[in-house]
Amino acid sequence: MAAGEAALSSPFAACAAGEGLVLGRIAQSLDGRIATPSGASRWIGGAEDLAHTHRLRASADAVVVGATTVAADDPRLTTRLVPGPSPVRVVLDPRRRLGTSFHVFRDGLPTLLCTSPEAATPPRHGTAEVMAFACPHGGFDLRALLDRLAGRGLRRILIEGGGVTLSRFLAADLLGRLHVTLAPVLLGGGIPAFSFPPAASPATARRLAWSVHPLGGDLLLDIAFTAQAAGRGGEAPRMP
Ligand SMILES: NC(=O)c1ccc[n+]([C@@H]2O[C@H](COP(=O)([O-])OP(=O)(O)OC[C@H]3O[C@@H](n4cnc5c(N)ncnc54)[C@H](OP(=O)(O)O)[C@@H]3O)[C@@H](O)[C@H]2O)c1
Repeated sequence: MAAGEAALSSPFAACAAGEGLVLGRIAQSLDGRIATPSGASRWIGGAEDLAHTHRLRASADAVVVGATTVAADDPRLTTRLVPGPSPVRVVLDPRRRLGTSFHVFRDGLPTLLCTSPEAATPPRHGTAEVMAFACPHGGFDLRALLDRLAGRGLRRILIEGGGVTLSRFLAADLLGRLHVTLAPVLLGGGIPAFSFPPAASPATARRLAWSVHPLGGDLLLDIAFTAQAAGRGGEAPRMP
């Protein structure tokens, strides 16, 4: 495998020793949706897309998802399609609205449930450990969350969705890299991949640089968030 291909298929493994990376990952339809209006998302991308996600998980320390994704998909977030260890699962559920019947809370593999201090007792959620975070105005301080994870040795972080979760990391300017799979499917409506306040014009919008790679019948858009990659109006979009 060429060095460029290796960095694409396993960007976490390409991190220098002790270095961290926060990588966003999402598969979207041509019309920018990650699920139908009812929340069905399996599968927007093809088999190669799924295998790519599992490869990313295999070299990540932790994988982060929002509460709505767990409620909709009941994902395992393991690496069962590829060799390599499964990452620690991190679920953002500020109101602790998820029950304990989901796979990530009962399969015994490591899971951290991030919730607000008011909802943090009892300290276990099924087999998961509960972590309390201040959640003013319904939003966690994501930098503090990354610091807490780093304190546990979890520095290679895969943000696997859904759109709200990914958009909040993007708006907080915490993504180092983003892998978007663009699939040739039209959903005509549904849950958006990205949502934040709109730019006033294309000229003032955040403009990114990407490289584009075939992924089975889909396209993988690989975006690095560097100072150089941000073009005109290169600030991160702000949440209200
Ligand atoms: N195509 C794909 O690649 C892909 C990947 C993953 C998921 N999905 C689909 O995406 C859909 C769900 O996506 P979604 O955008 O609606 O929701 P989501 O991102 O999965 O979950 C959003 C919820 O998680 C909690 N949350 C996330 N970030 C938070 C933060 N920074 N601070 C506090 N709470 C936070 C909040 O819970 P509260 O509402 O309790 O405040 C928030 O409403 C599902 O249908 C799933 O199937 C698709």
